[in-house]
Amino acid sequence: MLEPNQIVFFDTTLRDGEQSPGCTMHHDEKLRLAHQLRDLGVDIIEAGFAIASEGDFHAVQTIAREVKGTRIASLARCKREDIEAAGRAVQPAASNRVHVFLASSDLHLEAKLKITREQALDQTAESVRFARTFVDDVEFSTEDGTRTDPEFLVKMITVAVQAGASTINIPDTVGYTTPAEYEAIFRMVKQRVPGIENVVLSAHCHDDLGMAVANSLAAIQGGARQVECTITGIGERAGNAALEEIAAAIMVRRDRFPYTHHIKMDQLYPTSKLLAEFISFGVSPNKAVVGANAFAHESGIHQHGVLANPLTYEIMTPESVGVAHTNLVLGKHSGRRALADRLEKLGYGLTREQLDDVYHRFTELADRKKAIYDQDILGLLQPNKSIPVETVP
Ligand code: KIV
Ligand code: ZN
Repeated sequence: MLEPNQIVFFDTTLRDGEQSPGCTMHHDEKLRLAHQLRDLGVDIIEAGFAIASEGDFHAVQTIAREVKGTRIASLARCKREDIEAAGRAVQPAASNRVHVFLASSDLHLEAKLKITREQALDQTAESVRFARTFVDDVEFSTEDGTRTDPEFLVKMITVAVQAGASTINIPDTVGYTTPAEYEAIFRMVKQRVPGIENVVLSAHCHDDLGMAVANSLAAIQGGARQVECTITGIGERAGNAALEEIAAAIMVRRDRFPYTHHIKMDQLYPTSKLLAEFISFGVSPNKAVVGANAFAHESGIHQHGVLANPLTYEIMTPESVGVAHTNLVLGKHSGRRALADRLEKLGYGLTREQLDDVYHRFTELADRKKAIYDQDILGLLQPNKSIPVETVP
């Protein structure tokens, strides 16, 4: 049973993340990442879509057998063969889950599945009941839930709860909703679905409009207690809500989000690095929390502030998310303070006149060269070879 303010982190990097372009991972990479996700403290790892291929089935099964200390889930459509594959694949895990989904919006029911609402309700009940024959823990997702008629959403969720689902996920499958709308959906479902107090509500957001994390946090405020997310936000199209951003928002804005969770914050950066080794693109430098520039400062005003007190321009410490230190990048926007700081770290203490002289040559170089390395800085000292090592006052 969850504490009232506990947030469950459900990581779907190995399923929703892995199924996006450039993110395919091999069996051993998936296993290594699953171990790291466990070390990060995620409560549930969605290890794959067992019916998708033999490889997926084996990856889920191996993870279920070898990764202890977390719950292992597999996705399934409302089809007997999917549910059976998912149920068999997660069977070796001490804690497991089958995650069944069915579209709920009229658009998906008519255009994609070509079934009526009545048929969708029947499939929901039948599939959740069948999944329960494999595992005690069944999650049901209303795909495209945010574009679903609210009356029908309530009906479908009611049927899933009555059939034995213990987590109900309302995905924003196409990243369409806004924070206020999404929060309202959760409040409405909490008010209207009988027996919902015995069920965990879950958010699953895509980032098509750049609102996946904001929507996930809004869902929490509306009553969701599980968030589905991926490392660095990889996932279909523009991606999923980024796990590290949700966790960092809860850490930094405890005043707005007074929730507990099991994420070990200093494992965020190492986990993002490991994922980047396996997929075919790196973490964008300006990525929140774990990007190379997340704790880097080049402008003189910011460098001056950070040297005086990091809180001036950093809302969390780099160490709190597993990054070694703040990085003062020397470039054409940098000031004397940062240059003097770097020179001291390199073992050179300059008088004020010497620093002025070196700084002048530094700005000339920085106008011509995009990246300035320590060797470049040392090169600037050449005309001042006789500089004594003393600290600038
Ligand atoms: O985005 C989505 O709707 C999904 C479901 C399968 C949960 O990924
Ligand atoms: Zn998704």
